[in-house]
Amino acid sequence: MKKHSMLKAVAGAGVLALGIGLAGCAGDRTGGNAGGGEEEAGGIIGVAMPTQQSERWIADGNNVKAQLEELGYQVDLQYANDDIPTQVSQIENMISSGANALIIASIDGTTLTDVLQQAKDADIPVIAYDRLINGTPNVDYYTTFDNYKVGVQQATSLLTGLGVLDASGADTGAAGPFNVELFAGSPDDNNATFFWQGAIDTLQPYLDKGTLVVPSGQTDFGQAAILRWLPETAQERMENILTVIGSTKLQGVLSPYDGLSIGIISALTSGGYSASDLPVVTGQDAEVGSIKSIIAGEQYSTIFKDTRELAKQAVTMVDDIRKGETPQVNDEETYDNGEKIVPSYLLESTIVTKDNYKEILIDSGYYTEADLG
Ligand code: GAL
Repeated sequence: MKKHSMLKAVAGAGVLALGIGLAGCAGDRTGGNAGGGEEEAGGIIGVAMPTQQSERWIADGNNVKAQLEELGYQVDLQYANDDIPTQVSQIENMISSGANALIIASIDGTTLTDVLQQAKDADIPVIAYDRLINGTPNVDYYTTFDNYKVGVQQATSLLTGLGVLDASGADTGAAGPFNVELFAGSPDDNNATFFWQGAIDTLQPYLDKGTLVVPSGQTDFGQAAILRWLPETAQERMENILTVIGSTKLQGVLSPYDGLSIGIISALTSGGYSASDLPVVTGQDAEVGSIKSIIAGEQYSTIFKDTRELAKQAVTMVDDIRKGETPQVNDEETYDNGEKIVPSYLLESTIVTKDNYKEILIDSGYYTEADLG
C-alpha cells in the first residue's frame, strides 16, 4: 500500500482496528515523508498526559486533541493517574497500536528510556510536552514555557506582594524582615528545578541582606520539594512548619503550583490565619480554584501559562514532522537531557493577580466570568 493511501485508510478507521491492521507495518511509520511534501499528513497521534487530578492537564489534553483532530489526525489520548508504570504501558500500547507520533507530558522524566527506544525502533517521532524527558536520545523536540523565567515571576510576585518591589519592579527599600517559607515542585519533574532556580536567584539578594528570613531554616530544594506535586503533601509540610516555628508569623510563602498553594492555604487557615492576615502565597497554572481564591483575597498570585498556545506548538511540531518539514524552535541550548540538547520552543508566561486577572484570563477567552463566579 502506498504511504499516502495507507494514511488515508488510517484516518478513516478506528484506533483499535488500526492497532491490529498496522501491527506488522511499523517500518512504514516514518516521522515524515521527506521529499513528499505534496502528500497529506494524517495518522494516529498518541498523547500521554500525567494526571486528571489537575485541571491544567485536562485542558492540555483537550486542547491537543481538538487541535490535532481539526488537522485530520486521530488521537489516542491517555492519562496515567500519576502512576509511572501506567504511563509506560500506555505509551507501549500507543506504539504497538500504530501511532505515527507521540506527544508526552511525563510523570517522571527519567523513566521513559526503554519505551522511547521502542518508539525509535519503530521510527516514531517524540515531542516532550511541557516537561523535559531526560536520559534518552530518543526525544526529538520539546515545547514548554521559559521555566526559569516562571520561577523568576513567582519570586517577583512574592516580592511585589510583600511590598519589597513596587508594581514597576523597582526596589522600594522595604527592610522587612519578612518571614517567608519556600516550596518547590516534584523532584522527578525537570521543570521543578528550573522554577526553583529562577525563584531562588531572585530571592537570594533579599535573603542575604536579611529582608527575607526563612524561619524554618528549610532553604534547600530537597527540603522544599513536594513529590508528585501533591496538594496534601504540601499541606502536611506547611502544618509541620507551623508547628516548628510556633508563634512566628509568616508574611509570605513561595509556592510553585496552584495545587500546592491550595494545600498551603488550607494549612494556614487551620493554623489560625484568617483572610486578613494570610501571607502572600504565589502559584502557577491559573487554575479555576486558585483564581477564585485570588479574587477572594486569599492566594496572592499565579502564573498563567496558556495551554492553548502550548497545545498549538506541540500540534504544529507534529504536523510539520508528518509533512516532512522541520519544526521551528527558539532555544537550542537550555534543555540538556543528559543525552542531548533537545531543540525547544519556549513560550512566555504572565504573572496574574487580582489586579489583572480579568484582562489576562477573561478578555483572552481563557475563562468566562461564569467559570470564576
Ligand atoms: C509542571 C508544570 C506546571 C504544573 C506542575 C504540576 O511540570 O510545568 O505548570 O502544572 O507540573 O502539574
